[in-house]
Amino acid sequence: MSDHPLPVKACVFDAYGTLFDLATATAACNDILEGKAAELTGLWRAKQLQYTWLRSLQNRHTDFWTVTGEALDFSLDTLGFHGRVMRERLMAAYRQLGCFEEVPAVLQQLREAGMKTAVLSNGSPAMLAAAIRASALDRQFDGVFSADEVGVFKPHPSVYQLAVDRLGLPADKIVFLSSNGWDAHGASAFGMRAIWCNRYAQRAERLPGRPDHVIKSLRELPPLVRHERSMTVG
Ligand code: LAC
Repeated sequence: MSDHPLPVKACVFDAYGTLFDLATATAACNDILEGKAAELTGLWRAKQLQYTWLRSLQNRHTDFWTVTGEALDFSLDTLGFHGRVMRERLMAAYRQLGCFEEVPAVLQQLREAGMKTAVLSNGSPAMLAAAIRASALDRQFDGVFSADEVGVFKPHPSVYQLAVDRLGLPADKIVFLSSNGWDAHGASAFGMRAIWCNRYAQRAERLPGRPDHVIKSLRELPPLVRHERSMTVG
């Protein structure tokens, strides 16, 4: 148990890579990827994020499903894959991503301790609803907030503000969880408490903001937070 758990009222989670495992999409199509599943996972994700940032800079928002498809087209082309069937199978698998194994129990534990829980993601509402349903997490969130609602992607401050507005809580009473270092820094710079779930052992970012904690799995989260009006969760 942490000596000084963060006193907050809500835990808000990034979706892709934090709750949902991106590798499950390519793993589901392993039979047609000629041993390039890991390479495709990395390239697809990197391109998807680049496109969110570039579109945000250009003020040319489109939904994350479109961005994800465009990033996949670039990545398949780069790896020398062609054909509609592969694209359709990968996109269908992306809609049904599996969650990381610790996620259901951690959400349950937080909620039993009185913590509000929510998702704050670049994902479009339909994508998020499909992923949440596929992992049977429908009843585990007080809110699912999509960057679509503000027409720009993270780490634009308007996206973090959306969680503040929709939860009706001050930023510093929310802890934001992301496996993306840049996203944890973005939330911290905005004024939230932030925990970087560094699942992929990445190097520290040199960006504004500073995560309050760095963990390797969400399993480590409950002892790090304390619902303001109750005991420590873990
Ligand atoms: C999301 C991406 C950034 O869910 O992981 O918003």
